[in-house]
Amino acid sequence: MKLISDYMRDENSRHMLNALTRKTFGFDFEGWVTNGYFEGDYIPYSLVENGVMISNVSANKMRFVQNGVIKNYIQLGTVMTDESYRNQGLAAKLMQHVIKEYEDKCDGIYLFGDLSAMGFYRKMGFDIVNQYMYFVKEEFCNSGKSGGPFMPVSEMDEDIKKKYKELVRLSYPHSAFEQMNKFGLQMFYTSGMDSVYYSSDLDCFIVKEQDGDTVLGSVLCRKKVRLAEVLKRINVGNRLRLGFVPLGEDKELCDCSLYDGADDYRLFYRGSELEAIERDKLYFPDLSHA
Ligand SMILES: CC(C)(COP(=O)(O)OP(=O)(O)OC[C@H]1O[C@@H](n2cnc3c(N)ncnc32)[C@H](O)[C@@H]1OP(=O)(O)O)[C@@H](O)C(=O)NCCC(=O)NCCS
Repeated sequence: MKLISDYMRDENSRHMLNALTRKTFGFDFEGWVTNGYFEGDYIPYSLVENGVMISNVSANKMRFVQNGVIKNYIQLGTVMTDESYRNQGLAAKLMQHVIKEYEDKCDGIYLFGDLSAMGFYRKMGFDIVNQYMYFVKEEFCNSGKSGGPFMPVSEMDEDIKKKYKELVRLSYPHSAFEQMNKFGLQMFYTSGMDSVYYSSDLDCFIVKEQDGDTVLGSVLCRKKVRLAEVLKRINVGNRLRLGFVPLGEDKELCDCSLYDGADDYRLFYRGSELEAIERDKLYFPDLSHA
């Protein structure tokens, strides 16, 4: 059995990872890499036996500005062992390897763990921390429309799509807890442009989805755009949830409530720095989940 790592540009190893990821989670990394969205911040650690990948834990390098201070975290993801090799200590072996590799070199390690795997992460020494979710107060959701509305980018020409991709890298931060190196993960979710909208008078892009609530996932502009300006240009169905923490000056437009991950996940962490997530009422951006 061989441990291989950091091979995303090597076709043979990547195809082995794709095969195990498809089998376990029903997706793969092929288009993401070949379309140029992988930029080195996703580092898989994998066990290979007889030319087949049997277990994997991936480290995502996450660089945030957290209330004005830069934090370098590692987010673990794509944690999986082939069904016929489970309960033999393989994922534990990779976890211990990755933790040893990064623990002293970053401000904390975290992951969004499925409810079915909670016992596994607890055994690996992770604790659970809660986040806070932000909702725009009803009186600000539909309080008078003006300006050029946000229009679907999927129906616009290639220049606008190119401009969106540039702004994913270069936007003014619109969150008090902003991921700086968001290109890889945000493009994983939005390269199809289905949820991307553009307002020409603001020269601003948003990512917006419908998930029971309307979810505003991202605001991208070279200059700072106040949340109120975005709200004037979108129609909100029931409720508007932010998929990120608003800037301090926009917090008065929002209510926030403790969020434990409900039926979707628990946020597991190692390293006391990450206790600030709950204490400071923070929320990892939806579009930063590995
Ligand atoms: C979760 C998963 C990665 C564990 O892989 P694995 O190689 O079987 O895990 P290990 O054998 O290294 O387990 C280490 C320890 O955790 C325990 N454990 C493993 N999976 C567990 C689970 N789902 N719940 C509780 N405990 C678990 C093992 O019993 C073992 O305990 P021990 O040290 O007391 O013997 C694997 O079950 C899997 O691929 N599941 C499907 C994909 C998935 O859900 N991934 C997690 C997404 S967040």
